[in-house]
Amino acid sequence: MHEELVADLRAALGCGGVLVEASDKLRYERGWRYGQGAACCVARPVSTAEVVSTLQICGRYGARVVPQGANTGLVAASTPDATGSMVVMSMERLDQTMDLDVADRTVLVDGGVLLSALNERLGASGLWFPVDLGADPQVGGMIATNTGGTRLLRYGDVRRNVLGLEVVLGDGRVISQLNRLRKNNTGLDCKQLFVGTTGVFGVVTKAVLSVVPKPNQTAAALVACRDGQAALKLLRAVERELGDVLSAFEVMGERAMAAVFRHQTRLRSPFSELPAYAALIELSTALPDGAVELDEVLEQCLRAHLEAAGDEVLEVLVGADDDFWHLRHSITESLRSDGEMVAFDVSVARSQLPALSDRVRALLAARYPSVRLCDYGHWGDGGSHLNLVWDAGAVADAAALKQRLQEAIYDLVTDDFGGSYSAEHGVGPHNQRYYDCYTDDLVRQLCGALGAFCDPDDRLGTVHLA
Ligand code: MLT
Ligand code: ZN
Repeated sequence: MHEELVADLRAALGCGGVLVEASDKLRYERGWRYGQGAACCVARPVSTAEVVSTLQICGRYGARVVPQGANTGLVAASTPDATGSMVVMSMERLDQTMDLDVADRTVLVDGGVLLSALNERLGASGLWFPVDLGADPQVGGMIATNTGGTRLLRYGDVRRNVLGLEVVLGDGRVISQLNRLRKNNTGLDCKQLFVGTTGVFGVVTKAVLSVVPKPNQTAAALVACRDGQAALKLLRAVERELGDVLSAFEVMGERAMAAVFRHQTRLRSPFSELPAYAALIELSTALPDGAVELDEVLEQCLRAHLEAAGDEVLEVLVGADDDFWHLRHSITESLRSDGEMVAFDVSVARSQLPALSDRVRALLAARYPSVRLCDYGHWGDGGSHLNLVWDAGAVADAAALKQRLQEAIYDLVTDDFGGSYSAEHGVGPHNQRYYDCYTDDLVRQLCGALGAFCDPDDRLGTVHLA
């Protein structure tokens, strides 16, 4: 069956459209962070018609398919399972269309277009797709995940910036809703079924995105705060006074920053002393140069806050935007070099963020004293990466500990704080077990009904939403 499937796929996609050699398949079988499986082959369609053919051929042979973008996701949703029977459908060659309508501020793109390529194309017209990340994903993958990123506070997640979609359903039918309208109130907004549902209802082949004027001036500051409550107070102050131009409010805990300065030797701490928390504040505007001096505006606001806040605010550093962002974006990988880690991507109401960190610290002190909380994240949107780290080798059964910690933290976040166990990374095999625990029964039944319509033979993906 394998040989015949591959032969039919080759007939439809051409020889270069199907990879079967172990060494060629390797990079499609291993995820960016999690996910390691084995593919029967990798299909690389170049058009919607070839995506349709791939799914129909796989359907004839009963082969399951995992759609794959740039494979930069963080929940293992784009890699095949371990059976060796799944076909990876890589969208990397479906990347030619980028039709920009400057007057409308919309762009029609193929699902396989990389975020970096899109922004390069938009840059010449002074425009930008504002979902901003450390990675370089494909548009289709961003849609399937509903990616968030560091500027969600100002621009929203992917969901808020998608106007229309073309999607191939599991059996090869095509839904084409390439809407370019910002106002279109005509019943079910069916494109939303495909945003954040990890590609199990259909494969995004084209999208119409809303884009924004690219800021031509930014200013950033690091503010050293005595504790989490002081960081929250600062957030309220900058939103009140600078809300129109505030584009990011990220918070980093002391241990998270210390790990960066230990492992990234090119980065030096800018603080006289590492604070319990530091806020990274970014302002941006598309106003022409000279219309407003953002650095001054930011500095003035923060100096006034520093005076009013007494010892809650310890230090204000304005400027050096790139270094500040470098520090922020280096945290995850630095923590990974610091020992064993279990990473979290949770969200709660913003007002609860300090209390959540305190409860996690108390839980660790009582039950897992060798584990340390290294928290940081998107506090402006209620997002926190509560990463838990311990010295390598300090614990005999690290896998069992990771599972116990996940269960304890997710229960705390969802039951006691009404929060989410996956704020921005989406759902995938990595957190399927928690999706199963926390998802409402009726929602799962609804997903079952949608799945039966969109993917009647259950061909797509490795996640089970029903
Ligand atoms: C981040 O905000 O740095 C990432 O979402 C965290 C991660 O990569 O786990
Ligand atoms: Zn994040």
